[in-house]
Amino acid sequence: MLRRNKRRSRSAGSGNRLITHANPTSPISKAYRTLRTNIQFTSIDNQNRVIMVTSSQAGDGKTTTISNLAVAYAQDGKKVLLIDCDLRKPSLHHLFHLSNRVGVSSVVSGQKEWNEAIHPTFVDRLSVLTSGPIPPNPSEIAGSNKMRDLIKELLNHFDYLFIDTPPLLVVPDGIIISSYCDGVVLVVRAEKTKQQTALKAKNSLDYVKSKILGVVINDKKRDPNNYYYEYYGAEE
Ligand SMILES: Nc1ncnc2c1ncn2[C@@H]1O[C@H](COP(=O)(O)OP(=O)(O)OP(=O)(O)O)[C@@H](O)[C@H]1O
Ligand SMILES: [Mg+2]
Repeated sequence: MLRRNKRRSRSAGSGNRLITHANPTSPISKAYRTLRTNIQFTSIDNQNRVIMVTSSQAGDGKTTTISNLAVAYAQDGKKVLLIDCDLRKPSLHHLFHLSNRVGVSSVVSGQKEWNEAIHPTFVDRLSVLTSGPIPPNPSEIAGSNKMRDLIKELLNHFDYLFIDTPPLLVVPDGIIISSYCDGVVLVVRAEKTKQQTALKAKNSLDYVKSKILGVVINDKKRDPNNYYYEYYGAEE
């Protein structure tokens, strides 16, 4: 009984940022489901099973977006793994109240097996692989053959992999990671991201031939009591 209460209060504590879990019927949760549907529309010919969310700068809403998107996929009955590849300033363990003692860095460096590092979460069908201890060589880990092999192996066990990354124009990790993702969702923070900066991020993804699945306009104010997520694409 005590455990159930604790579990409930912990998941409720994520309510503000994990709105798809805390309040699935809210307009914002509906916007995340629209994003999910639109990504699924882009997958008619090619399966987009490894999806990365990125943005040009820090604090644009990458982690918030990818976490809610992953929850929306899990709510649709998919088995989902959310991976923290922001190996410099990881945050998924905070959002999901998990230990970060082991994670991506421990698995890629051979200290742990992947199945010893994955955590179930308070969301059914959604697991998280946290970053693990911050390594001295994040770009090297992100671009290693072991990382690519890990992604291939994880695809045998999950329907979708969602990869959280550091800002694209600040460190090279995001561009490196995009090379083994099926598609990228680019987050732009309304009233903060400059057009030139967003364009620069898009151009760097185009340069390495990464497939941009869509652009999320995060934090676009319409109603002072709400924040919105918009996505360029068809309506649900
Ligand atoms: N639409 C929004 N409305 C209000 N606050 C938001 C919104 N999106 C994100 N935030 C807040 O902005 C902060 C940064 O969000 P988040 O961590 O998702 O960004 P990020 O791009 O992952 O940042 P970083 O580059 O540091 O990893 C968080 O405190 C989050 O709660
Ligand atoms: Mg983040």
